[in-house]
Amino acid sequence: MSDFENIYRPLKAPVIDILDESPLIKTFVMKPESEFTFKTGEFIEVTLNGYGEAPFTPSSSPLNHDQLEITVMKTGYVTDKLHEIKKGEVLGIRGPYGRGYPLDKFYGKEVIILGGGCGFAPIRSLMYNLIAEKDKFKKVTLCYGAKNPSECIYKPFVEEVRQVDNFEVYRSVDHADGNWGEKVGVVTILLDDIKVNPKNAVAVVCGPPIMMKFGTFKLKELGFKDEDIYLSMEKNMSCGCGKCGHCMLGDYFVCKDGPVFSFDEIRDTPDIWT
Ligand SMILES: Cc1cc2nc3c(=O)[nH]c(=O)nc-3n(C[C@H](O)[C@H](O)[C@H](O)COP(=O)(O)OP(=O)(O)OC[C@H]3O[C@@H](n4cnc5c(N)ncnc54)[C@H](O)[C@@H]3O)c2cc1C
Ligand code: FES
Repeated sequence: MSDFENIYRPLKAPVIDILDESPLIKTFVMKPESEFTFKTGEFIEVTLNGYGEAPFTPSSSPLNHDQLEITVMKTGYVTDKLHEIKKGEVLGIRGPYGRGYPLDKFYGKEVIILGGGCGFAPIRSLMYNLIAEKDKFKKVTLCYGAKNPSECIYKPFVEEVRQVDNFEVYRSVDHADGNWGEKVGVVTILLDDIKVNPKNAVAVVCGPPIMMKFGTFKLKELGFKDEDIYLSMEKNMSCGCGKCGHCMLGDYFVCKDGPVFSFDEIRDTPDIWT
């Protein structure tokens, strides 16, 4: 018998529900075989037996230690296979890994959140946390964008957030249909309608690289300081825990030093938006 713990051994996590969020995005609700805790913005490695492993940021509340949710966009080998599984199948999870959102730096401030596509997954987990501590923030505004109305995810959650005092949600789509009553255009246009004092605010950006780039530039135009803009960076990963070097971003390991970075930490690193 070895005394060494195998850090790659996953915990069994039966899937107890699967929700269709959009044609390409599903949420998997898991009940890990023992209590599993994480801080908002940290990520986990998820194994689908026989197919492989991929990193995902939990989309559920970090305060719920009983169930764990991930929201997955179908994009390649493992995610395609994940979309085919049925309720009752068992996934493996390991983690949590990385550095999540520094909530203590948000206290007393206005929080502006800019999200696009499946980037709403970590943001939903963050919002659950912000709602649970809502008296500690001046105001919380979520600006969310998707390609079209059918790709807008978490519709019931958005309506719940709209009922919370001092929380506002604005949404835009690139292409509207006849039933869409909100904004049309890229997500950054939503920032044009928001009155915010950037001197007492922080911003969180999560979404596709192009949206993160233009979202960050727009926030800077509005007067946000680089150290007050928090970005969730994604890189191809393997070990997830600082051993293999697959996830290097300049001198950083995204899996260990991130995935959440403030813009001032990474602004001089080449190729951060690819
Ligand atoms: C910290 C972290 C958190 C993440 N959270 C989520 C989440 O909550 N929901 C979600 O849907 N996805 C999330 N992702 C992305 C997810 O891990 C990838 O989509 C997944 O690994 C793709 O695996 P695959 O086998 O299906 O695709 P593959 O067949 O491996 O690849 C398909 C294509 O996607 C590219 N690709 C793979 N991984 C990434 C990546 N991380 N960034 C950019 N391009 C990539 C490949 O180069 C290839 O072109 C996260 C990634 C990271 C690093
Ligand atoms: S994924 Fe292995 S070092 Fe980051």
